[in-house]
Amino acid sequence: MKSAELREKYLKFFVERGHKIIPSVSLVPNEDPSVLFTTAGMQPLIPYFIDLEHQAGRRLVNYQKVLRTVDIGEVGDDTHLTFFEMLGNWSLGDYWKDDSIRWSYEFLTDKKWLGLSKEKLAVSVYEGDSEVPKDEEAADIWKSLGIPQERVAYLGREDNWWGPPGITGPCGPDTEIFYWTGKSEPPARFDPKDRKWVEIWNNVFIQFNQGMDGTLKPLKQNNVDTGMGFERIVMILQDKESIFETDLFESIMSKIQSISQNQDDKPKRIVADHLRAATFLIADGVVPSNKDRGYILRRLIRRAVTYGRKLGIDHEFTTEVAAVVIENYQNVYPELAHSNKILEELNKEEIKFRQTLARGLKILESRKQITGAEAFDLFQTYGFPFELIKELAEVEQSEEFEEQFKKHQELSRTASAGQFKGGLASHSKKVIRLHTATHLLNQALREVLGNHVWQKGSNITEERTRFDFTHDKKMSDAEKQEVERRVNQWIGNDLRVKKETMPLEDARELGAIGVFGEKYADEVSVYTIFNPENDDVISREFCGGPHVAHTAEIGKFKIAKEEAVSAGVRRIKAVVEP
Ligand code: ALA
Repeated sequence: MKSAELREKYLKFFVERGHKIIPSVSLVPNEDPSVLFTTAGMQPLIPYFIDLEHQAGRRLVNYQKVLRTVDIGEVGDDTHLTFFEMLGNWSLGDYWKDDSIRWSYEFLTDKKWLGLSKEKLAVSVYEGDSEVPKDEEAADIWKSLGIPQERVAYLGREDNWWGPPGITGPCGPDTEIFYWTGKSEPPARFDPKDRKWVEIWNNVFIQFNQGMDGTLKPLKQNNVDTGMGFERIVMILQDKESIFETDLFESIMSKIQSISQNQDDKPKRIVADHLRAATFLIADGVVPSNKDRGYILRRLIRRAVTYGRKLGIDHEFTTEVAAVVIENYQNVYPELAHSNKILEELNKEEIKFRQTLARGLKILESRKQITGAEAFDLFQTYGFPFELIKELAEVEQSEEFEEQFKKHQELSRTASAGQFKGGLASHSKKVIRLHTATHLLNQALREVLGNHVWQKGSNITEERTRFDFTHDKKMSDAEKQEVERRVNQWIGNDLRVKKETMPLEDARELGAIGVFGEKYADEVSVYTIFNPENDDVISREFCGGPHVAHTAEIGKFKIAKEEAVSAGVRRIKAVVEP
C-alpha cells in the first residue's frame, strides 16, 4: 500500500466513525512559548482535554508532523527519526477505552482497511502503582478481541504513561500496540525489549491532570489521545526492513546515493532524516541560529553536512536533497511550496559551515591528539559537531571537554529559558519585579479560575506584564479582584524566591511547570516562590529568571486590562506600583 493511500484510509476510517479532520499544526507551537517544538498531535489539544469545547466537536482525527530530538542518537537504525508524522484520533470526553481499542484493532487487521496479521500483534498496558490501578480493563478488551495473554505485557510509568510536554497537565496510562517485524515467525510470548517488536500505535487514556505538586487529580472528562507512527506503519505495509526503504524515503535516499562515493547506509539515513527535518523546520519559519529552535536546526544541518562528508560528498548538496523532500511532500504540506526561502536558508548555512569545516579540519588533521580545551574551542568557535571532533582526533583529557560542554549547554539553556518565558529583553528592576509578579499571577489564575488555565505566552516591558492564558470566558470583576487579592497577599507575606539548578527529572518530580518538551536538557533552572515560615510552595516554574529575592520588593499588583486574544485564550495586562 502506498503511503498516500494509508493517509486517506486512516482519515476515512475515523470520519466514518464520526470524527472531524483537523489540520496539522506548525512544528513551532504558537500557543505555548515554553515548548520548543510540536512533539505530539495532542499538544494543541491540551485545553480541550480539560474542559474547553473544541469547535470541530468531540471526535477529531488528523495527521500531524512532529519533531523530537530525543532519539537523535538512534537515527540511522531501521525505525528512528527526528522529524516524523503521526496519525492521530482523539476523543474529547466522548468515547473511551472500548471503542478506542476496538477501532485500532479493526483498522489494523480488517481486510477492508490494513489487513495486518493478527498473529503478529502484541500490546502493553499499564501495570499499575499505588496511585493508579493496573489497567485490567484495557487488557480485557484486548483479550476479548483475541490477543492471547502472553502477548500482553504490563509495564510501568516509564513505558505506559503519557504526559504532556510540560510537567503538569493532562496525562494518563496508555496501551501500546506492537507489530512483529522479524523474518521468522513471531515468538509466542511478547518481549517488549526485543527490537523486532516495533511499537506502532499508542492509545492514551487521558483522565488525570497532574498538578504542580505532582499529584494526579481526575479530570472532569475521560479523553482518548492516540498516535500512530506513520513511517513505521508504512514500513510494515510495504514489507520493508527499514523506514528508509519505504516510498516516503525512496527518492530522497536515491538522490543521496547518486551523489555519494560509498555504500554505507547509516550516514545516508542520517542525512535523509536531518535534511527532511530541516526542510520542514525552515518551512515553518525557523532559521539557523545559535539559540533555541534555530540551534536545533543548525545542528541538524551541520550534522547532515558532516555525514555527507563521510559519504564523500564534497560539493554543496543540501539543497539538492531538500528539493526532493519538497517535491515529495508539497501536496500534503503546502507550506513547503515556499521552496526558494527553504533552499536559500539551507544553502547559506551549508556554505557557512563548509568554511568553518575547512578551517577546523586544518587544525584537526595536522594533529593526532588535541586537548579537551582545544576540542571545546573547536566546538564553540567553529561550531564543529562533537561527533566529528571525536572521530577525527583523539581528544586528550576528554573529561575537561565534557565539563566545558556541559557548562556551555547550561548557559544556553538558561538563556533560552529566559527568552521563552517572556522575552526579558531588559533586566531592569521594574522588569524583574513584574517578572516575579507574573509567576504569582499565573498561580492565582489557576487557583481562582481552575487549572485549565495554562500560560500561552507572556511579554514584559518596563510598564506592564502581558500574560496570555487558556480560559474561555471573560473574567468577572469578582474573579479579577480575587486574583489581585491573592497576588497582593503573597506579596505582603514577603515570600522568598529561590533559584535552583537541577536535573530535569528532579524538576519533573517537584512538579515545576513550563519545562521544555525537549529531553535534551539534562539540567534545568527552576524558580520556586515559597513561604519561609512553613516552607509552603506557592509557585514553581522552570525559568531562566531573573527574579526578585523577596516578594515584598514587587509593590502593589493591579490588573489593568483583561481581554480576549482568540477563541479560548484571554490576555491580562497588569502593572505594579511602588
Ligand atoms: N500522545 C501520544 C504519543 O505521542 C499518543 O505517543
